[in-house]
Amino acid sequence: MKETVLVTGASSGIGLELARCFAADKSNLVLVARNTAALEKLAAELRREHQIEVHVLTADLARPESAREIFEQAGRGGITVDVLVNNAGFGLHGAFTELPLPRQLEIIQVNVTALVELTGLFLPGMLRRKRGGILNVGSVAGFLPGPNMAIYYATKAFVQSFTEALDEELRGSGVAVSVLCPGPTETNFSQTARGYHTREMKAAKMPAAEVASAGHRAFRAGRCVNVPGAKNILLVQLIKILPRSIIRKAIGRYNKLK
Ligand SMILES: NC(=O)c1ccc[n+]([C@@H]2O[C@H](COP(=O)([O-])OP(=O)(O)OC[C@H]3O[C@@H](n4cnc5c(N)ncnc54)[C@H](OP(=O)(O)O)[C@@H]3O)[C@@H](O)[C@H]2O)c1
Repeated sequence: MKETVLVTGASSGIGLELARCFAADKSNLVLVARNTAALEKLAAELRREHQIEVHVLTADLARPESAREIFEQAGRGGITVDVLVNNAGFGLHGAFTELPLPRQLEIIQVNVTALVELTGLFLPGMLRRKRGGILNVGSVAGFLPGPNMAIYYATKAFVQSFTEALDEELRGSGVAVSVLCPGPTETNFSQTARGYHTREMKAAKMPAAEVASAGHRAFRAGRCVNVPGAKNILLVQLIKILPRSIIRKAIGRYNKLK
């Protein structure tokens, strides 16, 4: 039977490119995000190019009810989700005390709570069928403390830790779990994060298609952690040996709004 892959945050950037990767495998897709027009446009392109079934599901993952609604809508539509791609996410530049608290709680809701809830809802079916998997989109930020973007970095540390732990727990179950940890990537991320004039905004960025393709390949190969790009691999190695105090200062400057 044909595999079905549900991708959150498929309306732009890395999620859109991940959807293209799974479509090239001839998997059927469920595309989730808030921007229905962007999802419909991608769905039409992928149906035309790959002769696959593509469902569009508009959802705002900042609403606590959304994960369950997505799960129930898939069930009502008779859709068996074999692979869950938890990609939707965002961050905001600024000091913790200067950013509105409700927006920061939304980052946790989208990047962490919805990711955990979707995993908790779809995983039992995968385990019963002894196949499928979960691809989470983390970040190199998950390896670091992130002054001036503290909540975002902390959410990605959660995604990193959660995915690695789950991979170990599910060993031998037939269900694959993987975390893709991109560094700076050409998407709408910096604009959403309002990182104008930060060093982050000016950093050299990898194309989203290249990042997605690396994550997709690693997931298919059953590799738990994938850091795409030589510079990002080097950065993660450096983080492991440099004193945390130096890292904190450097990242604080990198994220600081000028
Ligand atoms: N770009 C980078 O430098 C970078 C680096 C490391 C990790 N990442 C991670 O990569 C993932 C994808 O981000 P991106 O870089 O591709 O940025 P992007 O182009 O801004 O895409 C973000 C996606 O998440 C969706 N999304 C955001 N808030 C949502 C909400 N409340 N409900 C439902 N969907 C929501 C957006 O869709 P709608 O707006 O249509 O809802 C969009 O499809 C994120 O988890 C991000 O943390 C990015």
